[in-house]
Amino acid sequence: MKVLLISSSPHKEKSKTFFLAKEVLRALEQEGVDTEVIHLDDHRIFFCKHCEECHKKILHCRITDDVHIILKKMLECDGIILATPNYIYQVTASMKALFERSASFIHCKRLMGKYIAGVVSSGSGQDQDVLDYIKLYANACGAQYSGGVSSAAYSVEQKKDQAFESGRQLALDIKEKKAYPQQLELIEKGKQHFRKIVELRKKDWEEEYQYWQKMGWIV
Ligand SMILES: Cc1cc2nc3c(=O)[nH]c(=O)nc-3n(C[C@H](O)[C@H](O)[C@H](O)COP(=O)(O)O)c2cc1C
Repeated sequence: MKVLLISSSPHKEKSKTFFLAKEVLRALEQEGVDTEVIHLDDHRIFFCKHCEECHKKILHCRITDDVHIILKKMLECDGIILATPNYIYQVTASMKALFERSASFIHCKRLMGKYIAGVVSSGSGQDQDVLDYIKLYANACGAQYSGGVSSAAYSVEQKKDQAFESGRQLALDIKEKKAYPQQLELIEKGKQHFRKIVELRKKDWEEEYQYWQKMGWIV
């Protein structure tokens, strides 16, 4: 079992968000889960150009930066922690850029069967919108959202236990392949929506269509 932590604070190891994320990792490691950390600030991530090549050819992109490595790691793990400071009521631009470069994950529900947890810190402690957005991204990619933890920067110490509990929950969800019925319903709705679109665009998005066929989702 492997969980990938993607952390987007430019303060990296000194970050308040990472302080919480480390607790999530500690719980996972205690449950025997292998973990890996990616600081987005160590990587070059350019903006999506909407050329649609990633829809024509699975995981192909003409931009040569580090996104390819990160997307591959996301596909290879059982769970992902998305840790971000709240930047203007949202995930950081670096994390948003990563999400935008993963559009084919949404078309093909490539994270199905995986679990995602969110970690957010902010100045105000008003982070529910950011956690909700991480959940939205998880479900859009086909993954279930395991839960999240957030805190105002000045009180992260007080949220340590909650962060640890998030990690334990993520480990448990992966081990027991937990089903969150409401989320599964949303994921299924999203799948039906994309079935129509992928069918409509089958001549343009050749490999995505083939992927849907290979999965038995289009006959
Ligand atoms: C560009 C920028 C935008 C921010 N926007 C918000 C915001 O909208 N709401 C808020 O509560 N805090 C905001 N903050 C404060 C950070 O979210 C807060 O300091 C956070 O704990 C930093 O996390 P880090 O130590 O992991 O980098 C912002 C900070 C920056 C640099």
